[in-house]
Amino acid sequence: MGRTVYVDGAYVDEADAKVSIFDRGYLFGDGVYEVTAVLGGKLIDAEPHLERLDRSLGELEIAWPCSREELIEVHRELIRRNDLDQGGVYMQITRGVADREFYYPENTPTVLTAFTQARELLDTTNAKTGVKIVSMPDIRWQRRDIKSIALLAQAMSKQIAKAQGAFEGWMIEDGHVTEGTSSTSYIVKDGKVVTRPLSNAVLPGVTRRMLLRYMDETGVELDERLFSIDEAYGAEEAFLTSASTFVMPIVEIDGRQIGGGQPGPVARRLREIYIEEAWKTGI
Ligand code: PDD
Repeated sequence: MGRTVYVDGAYVDEADAKVSIFDRGYLFGDGVYEVTAVLGGKLIDAEPHLERLDRSLGELEIAWPCSREELIEVHRELIRRNDLDQGGVYMQITRGVADREFYYPENTPTVLTAFTQARELLDTTNAKTGVKIVSMPDIRWQRRDIKSIALLAQAMSKQIAKAQGAFEGWMIEDGHVTEGTSSTSYIVKDGKVVTRPLSNAVLPGVTRRMLLRYMDETGVELDERLFSIDEAYGAEEAFLTSASTFVMPIVEIDGRQIGGGQPGPVARRLREIYIEEAWKTGI
């Protein structure tokens, strides 16, 4: 018996999980997803993930497969059945199964699948030592605000980073950092946290949204603006955020040491604050 996963209405062993070859997710990458962190068997930041999901679905005119409450229940049941303490729940909704035509099929039920991934989130070596990243051109489409399952550009970019021994790739467009291949990008300049404003160019990170709220509450200054990779090279600190890393300090960008090669005080403090607050959102 492997993991118990959820496929279109049923909880099944992962070996028995099947989707149609005509699923629009499989044929066109026509679907959206969310990754929600799990701490102590509880879903973290569930509400803002649901809000972002609702927006992604709306932008693509994909119907909800069930109610929000039912979707949360699927997440919680997967956590229970897999006895998950720490890690995440991945879920995706595709436009459904239809013969291959580009336009959206009518009256096709959407397909919901979900599974758990066990992963240490709190006590990681990367968080203690900080990580190395490299930069690369942003080769993605122009609606990065939608959390689409079409992630080939991100997979290619992450592979380029891995080949250079880096944890993450920061993508560059028009001379500015957009974001990481699967994370939001930040630098610290003159004691202020700098991150790019939301637009179609980046995914509105849930961890970003919550972190900015906690920063505001604790008086950490924010400078929401574009920044270049050259500015990042000279920054006091750099870090990234996502549901699978929380706040992760960066100690090297393109082979240049940042902050003396040690996780900086702002990134360390924000990681502590985020994790402390994250526990409180658990459901
Ligand atoms: N990725 N930007 C991109 C391109 C992402 O793929 C992600 C998340 C983020 C951070 O968003 P959040 O804070 O809501 O996790 C930013 C997830 C974790 C993934 O694809 O696995």
